[in-house]
Amino acid sequence: MIKASNIHKYYGELEVLKGVDLHIKKGEIVSIVGASGAGKTTLLQILGTLDELSNKEEGTLLVNGTETTTLNDKNLAKFRNEHIGFIFQFHQLLPEFTAIENVCLPAFIKKISKSDAEKRAKELLDFLGLSHRHHHKPSELSGGEQQRVAVARALINNPAIIFADEPSGNLDSESADNLHKLFFELRENFGQTFVIVTHNKELAEMADRKLTMVDGKIVDKATVSA
Ligand SMILES: Nc1ncnc2c1ncn2[C@@H]1O[C@H](COP(=O)(O)OP(=O)(O)O)[C@@H](O)[C@H]1O
Ligand SMILES: [Mg+2]
Repeated sequence: MIKASNIHKYYGELEVLKGVDLHIKKGEIVSIVGASGAGKTTLLQILGTLDELSNKEEGTLLVNGTETTTLNDKNLAKFRNEHIGFIFQFHQLLPEFTAIENVCLPAFIKKISKSDAEKRAKELLDFLGLSHRHHHKPSELSGGEQQRVAVARALINNPAIIFADEPSGNLDSESADNLHKLFFELRENFGQTFVIVTHNKELAEMADRKLTMVDGKIVDKATVSA
């Protein structure tokens, strides 16, 4: 599903990613842990094609069968819209729109009709236990509910892969547990692949595989002291 090799990222003189190689299979749930500043968000943004690697000539990033380093901006945006979903720590819902409207946005960008998008949005919100919250705005929802709306938004175009950056970092422990269980349910029901950056120990351990980042590299488990 994802094959990344030799990913380097520089911000000016600062080398933030120092040659990352990664292979993630379809339907895998992989967690990425590591100290603040290790480069986790930078890596996730690059894997999700929201940011570019600095060495596009040497590095490769194959996502769902497409070599993304050679796509132009327009095709990259289209690719992202159709294949990738994102969940962030702060849900990043648009405050002036209702839950349904927020969920529909990626579908509208994909030029799905309003009626089809709304039908799918309602199905997803219902599946996520939000059937009574369709027309609420983010400020009228709890943190856990807001995050589930963000999950529905990430899912509306049936992406093959979901990237989540500290998705439960802002939730109470019960909402966090529910969100984590939901990821596994989604994988069960829809076969999605998940790459999740998290500080949550339970979630990190629940994953099929836990990767540890230290100073811009993914390190072998055996070399990291507990
Ligand atoms: N846009 C940017 N410009 C300059 N430096 C950045 C930028 N984004 C991140 N960094 C730096 O890159 C390093 C890794 O950041 P980040 O990927 O956010 O780490 P993590 O998510 O593991 O906490 C940090 O030292 C951070 O200050
Ligand atoms: Mg981060």
